[in-house]
Amino acid sequence: IFAEAKHQCWSMAHIVKSVKGLRVLVTGGGSGLGSATVKRMLEGGARVIACDLAGEDSLPKGAVFQKTDVTCEKEVGAALAAATKQFGGLDVAVNCAGIGVAQRTYNWNKDAVHPLKEFARVLEVNACGTFNVCRLAAQLMAKNEPNEDGSRGVLVNTASVAAFDGQVGQVAYSASKGAIVGLTLPMARDLSPIGIRVVTIAPGLFDTPLLAKLPEKARKLLAANVPFPQRLGDPAEYAHLVEAIVTNPMLNGECIRLDGALRMMP
Ligand SMILES: NC(=O)c1ccc[n+]([C@@H]2O[C@H](COP(=O)([O-])OP(=O)(O)OC[C@H]3O[C@@H](n4cnc5c(N)ncnc54)[C@H](O)[C@@H]3O)[C@@H](O)[C@H]2O)c1
Repeated sequence: IFAEAKHQCWSMAHIVKSVKGLRVLVTGGGSGLGSATVKRMLEGGARVIACDLAGEDSLPKGAVFQKTDVTCEKEVGAALAAATKQFGGLDVAVNCAGIGVAQRTYNWNKDAVHPLKEFARVLEVNACGTFNVCRLAAQLMAKNEPNEDGSRGVLVNTASVAAFDGQVGQVAYSASKGAIVGLTLPMARDLSPIGIRVVTIAPGLFDTPLLAKLPEKARKLLAANVPFPQRLGDPAEYAHLVEAIVTNPMLNGECIRLDGALRMMP
């Protein structure tokens, strides 16, 4: 059946064969999921600019580092200017920069309400930072000549399963990640006339410096809740999905859970 189908109607014409030669910007590129993405893109032959507050020393050889706060219009502009100067433009932007906070809406034992400032800070970095990079990257990608499929670029965002099943103390983080899920479809629709795709990944539990701060016992407990594979995700598996999104033109306007069937408990 497969052989016949292949001859009759299967066409791979639209699949982009690899990321070779693509010009890629990764925020949060100095650590964890972002760093793994930088590595995989470089291995695939892409040219990569890694944007982060710090982390230049741990970058793989070949990546260009640009100190960038994703919430700052001027600094993101400078990172895109660096991509233009070094690579002549941009094809892919991957948003991995993010922060978290653990705080209940109201802690009745301590009579303490969630500080509004902390809620706003998480929204500012995770949601506004992602949007800031997307809007400015889209402006630069619009200058690209479209390929034969009409494509000018791809934006990949990082939400979290907390956008759907946020736990106690994750009210700010979940709200910020829910915002990223929410902007995915309208942004894909906004940018469809110029051939820019927007896809969001919602990771489950990944073994990054973010989780490395937890005691080993807590990490084991978290991993035990993942149905299969019963372990923390490898950042390389996240980077693998980024590459699949970039190379598959039909993925657009969608949020993909990458979580081993995990559904977080309250
Ligand atoms: N690790 C997980 O299990 C997991 C699960 C779901 C979602 N995520 C999300 O994936 C993304 C990456 O997480 P990670 O685990 O690799 O974390 P990480 O802490 O290892 O990396 C995040 C990076 O973002 C950078 N960053 C923070 N604020 C920034 C800012 N304003 N401007 C530029 N860079 C900034 C940090 O310096 C850091 O290098 C985050 O958005 C996180 O919320 C992670």
